[in-house]
Amino acid sequence: MKTELGTDIELAAQFLRQGELVSIPTETVYGLGANGLLEPSLKAIFRVKNRPFYDPLILHTDSREKVEQWTEEMSAKLQLLADRFWPGPLTLLLDRKAAIPDVVTAGLPRVAFRIPNHPLTLKLLASLDFPLAAPSANPFGFVSPTRADHVLGHFNGQIAMVLDGGPSAVGIESTIVGEEDGEIIVYRLGGLSVERIEAIVGNVSVRTSSSKPAAPGMLERHYSPSKTIIVVESEVQLARAAAEDAAYILYNLPFDAAENRLMRLSKSALPEEAAANFYAALQQWESDETVKQLVIERMPDFGLGRAINDRLKRAAS
Ligand code: TXA
Ligand code: MG
Repeated sequence: MKTELGTDIELAAQFLRQGELVSIPTETVYGLGANGLLEPSLKAIFRVKNRPFYDPLILHTDSREKVEQWTEEMSAKLQLLADRFWPGPLTLLLDRKAAIPDVVTAGLPRVAFRIPNHPLTLKLLASLDFPLAAPSANPFGFVSPTRADHVLGHFNGQIAMVLDGGPSAVGIESTIVGEEDGEIIVYRLGGLSVERIEAIVGNVSVRTSSSKPAAPGMLERHYSPSKTIIVVESEVQLARAAAEDAAYILYNLPFDAAENRLMRLSKSALPEEAAANFYAALQQWESDETVKQLVIERMPDFGLGRAINDRLKRAAS
């Protein structure tokens, strides 16, 4: 199969209507999209990604009306969050209607929905009369792609098209939120900070541990680059970790290393900028045999820094 690369939304829509897989740009990461109501296409996502069927998929669409077509009415608090943050890096777990195939939710009672904030993809979604199932466009266990060339590196020749929307502006996956017994719960830390959610609905609980199967994708080691990851928090730890075969991904700590071995996540010490660069930084030395370890600085534990630290912990475990 030849994989098309480009910005032709109509071509992307045609492929998707025919049941083919198309990678879509979003503000968080690139997704591997397919018709979310068509079982053979959904199964193709799992096959191409080598993803286990117990790990459910997020559905993407462009309007609240369409979300309501496929889900039961959401609670007042979840409506506030949808009002405030859609389109954006927020995924809501909602009670599903019968039209949603079991393979989307891995048999769970709720379905994950998101309205992504990317102009090309919003136009594409508006032209489809089905929701688009789209996990991150990486093979299972790899870091998520934030650029079209990352996706091609994984799936060239295996999917119909990569819709190129430039680098993802947010750079880490959406925050997954639901409600249990009137309490708002964050199941995955992501591109929308807990602080911003709490500013709208008050205190929430963060439940991202892997022990509960509510969000099976939150397995430890879900993010596992091929290098040894060493997380450091101080100059002393950084100096101790320094090695011939190491490359460095740093935020604040001062350090001298050859330019081709050092990546700074943010020039202006902004967690948002660090998040946007984080996955590309992890990917940068993937195919460099001379780099055996990645020494990565832990972020301040608030805002998007908290979401990055969560991924660091999984990558290093
Ligand atoms: O930012 C994002 O969310 C990206 C872009 C493409 O939208 N997508 C993404 O999908 O990160 P994925 O498949 O890599 O992660 C989806 C995770 C699952 O692993 C699971 O933890 C959770 O979402 N999830 C999905 N459906 C669920 C459900 N019905 N109940 C509980 N958790 C669910
Ligand atoms: Mg993923």
